[in-house]
Amino acid sequence: MNIVVTGAQWGDEGKGKIVDFLAADASVIVRFSGGANAGHTIVLGGDRYALHLVPSGILYPDKIVILGSGMVIDPEALFSELAGLEKKGIDWLGRVLISDRAHLVLPSYRRVDKELEQKRARPIGTTGRGIGVAYAMKAYRDGIRIADLMDEDRLVNLEAEDRAFVEAWRDRLSPMSVDLVAYLRSHRNAYTLFEGAQGALLDIDTGTYPFVSSGMSCSAGAAAQGGIGPRRIDRVLGVFKAYSTRVGNGPFPTEFADDSPGSLSSYIRDTGNEYGVTTGRPRRCGYLDLVALRYAVAANSIDRLVLTHLDVYDELAEFEACIAYRIRGRLVEDFPTSIRDLEDAEPVLRKFSGWKESIAACTSFDELPRKARDYVAFIEEYVETPITVVSVGSDRGQTIVRESPWTRS
Ligand code: GDP
Ligand code: IMO
Ligand code: MG
Repeated sequence: MNIVVTGAQWGDEGKGKIVDFLAADASVIVRFSGGANAGHTIVLGGDRYALHLVPSGILYPDKIVILGSGMVIDPEALFSELAGLEKKGIDWLGRVLISDRAHLVLPSYRRVDKELEQKRARPIGTTGRGIGVAYAMKAYRDGIRIADLMDEDRLVNLEAEDRAFVEAWRDRLSPMSVDLVAYLRSHRNAYTLFEGAQGALLDIDTGTYPFVSSGMSCSAGAAAQGGIGPRRIDRVLGVFKAYSTRVGNGPFPTEFADDSPGSLSSYIRDTGNEYGVTTGRPRRCGYLDLVALRYAVAANSIDRLVLTHLDVYDELAEFEACIAYRIRGRLVEDFPTSIRDLEDAEPVLRKFSGWKESIAACTSFDELPRKARDYVAFIEEYVETPITVVSVGSDRGQTIVRESPWTRS
């Protein structure tokens, strides 16, 4: 069975936590998009693991994790991450594979990424990891794939620094290389998880272009770049938070206007620990945007939703969620394509009353306070999609399963 786990907002929805949780029942975990721009956090019994390139699933000693064809990989970042895991007692040797179709991020790409940002009248706020440049080089057909590491014809045009970099890392990368399509064909009966990075609204096609990343982080990316075709996907899980966050620039219709100390925005940031895992930047915060969520569900054929961070609302007497936009006086219920429309969008908000108690220790849906269940039910009805997993804290164990994603429907 093949399950795709995709972000349904602007990234950082808790994909890493959910993939780690579901990986208990999987044998292979394939990350299909992005690079070291991602930061996926797993918390296990008080220990916190921040993953950037290595798929979430690595913490189990018996799982195979694969960096998929859609990824752009900086080997320096990868081996430093693996060394960090090794220090924490995780034996990864032989369990971390890399698709031979994945592309490399080279030193000049990181430099160009930063230079392009400096020249932009409206910077995107990239992570500076060379991601956009790597995908651009891929599209130019001048990128270097894992399969090309020993191919003189592919390396001949590289600048000296980039070439030396490839030569320095290739002996460590080559033994990890795998033909992902052949691997997954021969493991077609395995329970496989496809881990997305970023999210629907940061995807190069479905996101708020140009304020997006450059990879295919939508669910279709798992098929194009995860080593299987679209008909092999059995389930698409969309992960979203009880509220919204965004790092970097770009439109964000429900963003809180007041971010001063003591504001709701700073309360949510501190309670939800909303600081970037990769760059440490404070994340912008706002209410849940149901217009955007319904768009993400449709664009990704999400058939089950995973709600995370519900506990962050524990102490609020009331909160709101966006059910439509008003754009220059016009009521809009579909997520606009135009950046100008999104920037002019004023959220039409619906109020909810809070539950004012801690849900962090709840282990079943019925244990959640009625007002929390009402919020869940409203979202399900609005987006016409069941929420089958609810996360009430960062620890692996703080996960309520209403219906196992591994159950075929
Ligand atoms: P990802 O990029 O989608 O994997 O998400 P990140 O790891 O960047 O950000 C999610 C943050 O929220 C991390 O610090 C997680 O440990 C934490 N987290 C995940 N789920 C929950 C939850 O249900 N409640 C709370 N309070 N924190 C959570
Ligand atoms: P995970 O997988 C949140 C954002 C950056 C920037 C834009 C482009 O942890 O959810 P890039 O360096 O990719 O060219 O930057 O995309 N961005 C993310 N925001 N979570 C992520 O990943 C992100 N990956 C990229 O902040 O606005
Ligand atoms: Mg993240």
